[in-house]
Parts: sequence; C-alpha cells; structure tokens
Amino acid sequence: FDTKTPQYSTSDPNSFASVSARDRWPVILTGAIDDIHKAVSKESDAEKREEGKQITAGLAKLKYEVQHDRQLSPLVDDGSPDIAGYNAELKQRGEPKWFNVPWLFSECYLYRRMATLFSTSQHWKSYDVFSKQKMSTFRSSRPAVIELAARYNDLTKQLRSTDSALANASEEEREQAQQAVFTEMCEICLWGNATDLSLLTNLSYDDIQKLQGSESRKANEKNIVVNDFPAAFATLKQAQKSGAKERRVDIVLDNAGFELFVDLVLAGYLLQSGLATHIVLHPKNIPWFVSDVVPKDFSDLLNVLVQAKSFYETPSEDDEARGVTPQSLSDKEQQDLKLLFENWGGLYAEGKIVLRPNGFWTEGGSYWRLPATAPSLYADLKESELVIFKGDLNYRKLTADAMWDPTTPFAEAIGPMGRGSGVRVLALRTCKADVVVGLSEGEDERLKGMEGGGGEGGARKWAWSGKWAVVSFCDGNA
Ligand code: F6P
Ligand code: MG
Repeated sequence: FDTKTPQYSTSDPNSFASVSARDRWPVILTGAIDDIHKAVSKESDAEKREEGKQITAGLAKLKYEVQHDRQLSPLVDDGSPDIAGYNAELKQRGEPKWFNVPWLFSECYLYRRMATLFSTSQHWKSYDVFSKQKMSTFRSSRPAVIELAARYNDLTKQLRSTDSALANASEEEREQAQQAVFTEMCEICLWGNATDLSLLTNLSYDDIQKLQGSESRKANEKNIVVNDFPAAFATLKQAQKSGAKERRVDIVLDNAGFELFVDLVLAGYLLQSGLATHIVLHPKNIPWFVSDVVPKDFSDLLNVLVQAKSFYETPSEDDEARGVTPQSLSDKEQQDLKLLFENWGGLYAEGKIVLRPNGFWTEGGSYWRLPATAPSLYADLKESELVIFKGDLNYRKLTADAMWDPTTPFAEAIGPMGRGSGVRVLALRTCKADVVVGLSEGEDERLKGMEGGGGEGGARKWAWSGKWAVVSFCDGNA
C-alpha cells in the first residue's frame, strides 16, 4: 500500500528534509527540553520532579542521537498498538540513521519517540511540552482573532436575517454570492495554516500579524497555485440540493491556536449556511509536530474565549520581561468574543460539531495505507460529503511525501485515497515542504525562477516557506 515513487530523504541536500533533520529538529528538541526543565523546577512533589528529570534526560539523549546521526532505536512499548508498526518499519528499512532515512517516517518517529517518554511515566502522562508555546502564539494572534470574531458574528446575523440584501435576487445570483462567502471562509481557513510552530521557530509578533488579517488574505490570492475551491463548493451545493438530511463535513485538523480558531470559523459558517449539517473534527491523540491539535487544545481555546478579558489583559512572561502592559479589550471586542463563544459552544453542545481522535493519524506511514490499515476510520470518512485535510503534514501524508513530478495529477499522487476511494478529499495546504503535485506545465519552473525560489541542484525552495498554497480536490466517488 505504499507508493513506488521514492520518498524525500534526509540524505538529500537539496531537500528541506535535510535542513529539517540537521537544523530544525535540534531547535525543536531544545525548546521541549527548556519547557520541561522549567516545569520540573516548579514542581514540589519530589517523586514527580525526579521523573521529570528523567524525561528531560531522555529528550537530551534523543537530541544527541539526532545531531550525531545515530540509528533510530526501537520505540519502548508504551502499550499502544502503533508501537509495533513503528518498530517493524525500522527493521524493514534496515535500521536507518537520522541523516539517511525517509523524511516523513523519521519525523513521525521523532514525535512518537518524544511521546513515549511521557506515556511511560507515572506523573507526566498527560503533559504536553508544546502547550505553552501553542497558547502564547495564539495570544499573539489577537488582532486577527478579534477581526474575525466580528466578521463571523456579522455573517451569523446576515445568515439568520430574513430581509436579506438578496431577497430579489435570482437563484443563480444567490448561489454566486454564497460561493463568494464560501471561498472567503475557506481562504481564511487556508492561510491560518501559515502560522504553525514547527516551522516558524522564531516567529515575532509582527511576523504573525503580517500573515493574518483580511488585507494580507486578498493580496495572497495570487499565491494559491492550485485552486479547486469551485469544485469543493459545487460538491457541497449539490449535496444540499439533493435534500439529504445529514450532510457531514470532516476536518482533519492541523495546528492548534489560530489555525484551530479559523477551522472553527469555517465549521460554524458551513453549519449556519446550510452547506453542512454536521462537522467532525479529527485531532491527534499525542503532541505532534509541535503545534498540532490535541483534544485539550479545543477546550483550551473555548476557555480563552469565555475568559478573554483575563487571557488578553494579564501580562505574559514575555510582556513582563519587556516591561509591557497588554492593551485592554474594548467593550465591543469583549462582546464579539463572548458571542462567538456562545455560538460555537452552542453548536458543540447540540452535537453539530464533534471531535473524533484516532490513533491512525500519528502512525509513521502515509495515508496511502489508510484503507488497508484503518478500515473503520476509512469507512467512517466515506460517510462524509467532504473530508478537508488541513496543512502541510496532511498533504505530505496524502501524497506519501514522494518525489512526484509536480505536474502529476493530485488524484494519482494520493493513490488509494484517490479515484474510486469513495472519499471526497480537499487539501488546504500552505507549502512548507518539497512535495507538490497538480501544477500546470511550467509553473514549478516559473516559481523556481523567482528570487529565492530555487537553489543550486534544483531545490524547490519556493515551496518551503508557507508563502505559496495549494487547494486540491479529488472526488473519490467520481
Ligand atoms: O516542512 C516543515 C514542517 O515543519 C514539516 O515538518 C511539517 O510537514 C510541516 O512543516 C508542519 O506544518 P503543518 O503544521 O502545516 O503540517
Ligand atoms: Mg502541524
């Protein structure tokens, strides 16, 4: 169930895989070590402190092994069924070393290995080393969060109002107007993926502002190099017209914080516009690729909205260090966040938005394996009108992170998840890795020709930074 096309490897100096293994992973591990070290030093229970020190040492050992190109050692059995799969794959791949191993598998192994240090402990089982980072970046998204809360509440009002501006419009005009809003909501959701933590290890407050907000979104439309939004809209519209009572949309989530916030903007919009009747969100079970959503991130986000004033007005550690007092929230801003909380909280309470974690999402393989190795998840996804895969890693997993010619059709590159799969796939991805498919002839060359877009040896540098995006649809029922 794997592709025969070779995968990107950490041994390839022209690939972002190589930069990741040599430069980025040590930085990410250092961040994790700092986090747990701080937590341990604040801990009063001696036994827990001792265990925390062992976890810190385990992370330091892992960092050493990466930096010194050691073998990837078998994972300790923490009782989860995926461990055997990881270890079998290590064997089958000939016990590889860090700097000569397929990128996708080794990066998954890295996060799974970190997770075993916690899952095999007594006192730190549910500790998320990335949680603080996720929250603090979300805090930095404040202007965009407030702007979007207001936009969402306005839209909610419009969708509920009977005297719409389109009262005298034709069916076709209404549909066009709806498609425009659908596209806007999807674009918000797409660009929310540009701000993930595993890539932007040095993101400043200003950088985050530049990536978010309506101005930058419009300017970024031309950077969507594959754009299948019209086909995705047509699918949902057709389902709505069919009169089917239950029409589900799934979102295979990527990052927590601002991206999860915009995922909920899209989810709420789809429900309120009638383009879907239920939304199923798929989070991870363990901390993953730094910023990915675990179920607790969802409740943390709702808690922020309900206590927005204290969240935004209490100085963070960073504010204190810089001697800055955060601006207070205006009454209107508070009201907007409160309304948003009530809206989302209501949809969740009614069971229209549900969370459905599954161990498959954190296995080491690509989604080519989904139909064979996760048959019940596969059967579940077939029930959905549209399964939206968010972000770079999901895209890499769909396409098996293989070295496709960039003009390969998306339907082909996703293998068993493509035509005939019975799953309607929509990938919303800002490009942060080499793999890209579905481009028109000559497009890759054009982008490589732009400043900083290519490298010696043919590196596809334009696709590494999150500046460009692909929106790819495949109707598995067609
Ligand atoms: O390519 C850089 C990277 O950090 C990869 O490790 C990973 O595929 C991805 O970006 C994470 O991004 P996202 O959160 O969009 O999946
Ligand atoms: Mg992610």
